[in-house]
Amino acid sequence: FLIGRLHTLCRRCPGIMTGQNNKPIPDWETLTFSLTETDFMYRSIGNTERDPVWDEGDYIPFEDITVSPAAALMSYGVGVFEGLKAQKTTGGKILLFRPDANGRRMQNSAERLMMPPFPTEQFVESCVELVRRNERFVPPPEYGSLYLRPMQHAIEPQLGLGPCSKLATHIFCSPVGSYFRGGSPRGVRLKVLEQGRVAPGGTGSAKAMGNYAGAIWVAQQWKDQGFDDVLYLDSHHLKYLTETSGSNPFVLLRSGVLVTPPLDSQILPGITRDSTLRIARELLNLDVEERALPIQEVIEEGVEMFCTGTAWTLLSVRELVYNDQVKLLETEELRGELLKVLRGIQAGDREDPFDWIREV
Ligand code: COI
Repeated sequence: FLIGRLHTLCRRCPGIMTGQNNKPIPDWETLTFSLTETDFMYRSIGNTERDPVWDEGDYIPFEDITVSPAAALMSYGVGVFEGLKAQKTTGGKILLFRPDANGRRMQNSAERLMMPPFPTEQFVESCVELVRRNERFVPPPEYGSLYLRPMQHAIEPQLGLGPCSKLATHIFCSPVGSYFRGGSPRGVRLKVLEQGRVAPGGTGSAKAMGNYAGAIWVAQQWKDQGFDDVLYLDSHHLKYLTETSGSNPFVLLRSGVLVTPPLDSQILPGITRDSTLRIARELLNLDVEERALPIQEVIEEGVEMFCTGTAWTLLSVRELVYNDQVKLLETEELRGELLKVLRGIQAGDREDPFDWIREV
């Protein structure tokens, strides 16, 4: 019996028995948003011909994975992903921010790509356990956070295009600093494109891998010309703001109203977007609207702009370039207020009235 338990323990957590906690800790002072390998990742295998579909999963050393070249992930990009962060508090606790919201969003994304949803409770528990096992990689307070990257993809070898029955969910993590470290401290410079990020009715509201793959080339054209990223207009009218390559925009208008585009099939329901809306409305009593926002209104009436995302957090926009119009946005006061509250909750320095925090 004991030998059996030992085998299970070794399989679930090889590092415990083999002393395999050997990946180097990065220099906390120079963290950027780039990969540092950690000791463990999580893997669960799904099979729609089984009940339950998903196995309980294993914690395995961070390593390359083996997948059939014929897996639908490889040709057709049948895969979705998530991003969430764990933060160390000054008292030494580790807090995960809204893992349940990421779990639910991954379910919605998976369903859009005809993959069976990964149970949210299992998602949350495996994020918590993964952080525990990689605890030494959580940066000290103020230096950054541990970014978790869950993903779900089809592993079934198949040639034709159709639903898949064999799947994998992996979660790995990496300590990270800010997304644009080295860029301007006063915020990003965005090129406004008369082009959609995704098609209306497409996969824009899912965190589908392909949405991001297609955006790399587009953004790179403008990064080469000194921009930090692009801001897409809607695919239908080429008039309304949608997203950057990976964040949701907010604009403070001269009237004092804070506006962000409403969720539709071209916009990802950002968890930082939702958190910002709730803080703005419920804690700061701001006048907030979710409505279609024409680029011309931003140029004429915008006084402050920022973009939200797990990786971006709340990042000011200092300049927008739309055809031959240049819009400078010189204040970042509101973004500062919102970020202070958000960071306070995430770091455990403020009360969490929304029950967003999950202690590890
Ligand atoms: C995130 O903000 O977590 C994302 O997944 C966006 C990605 C472009 C870094």
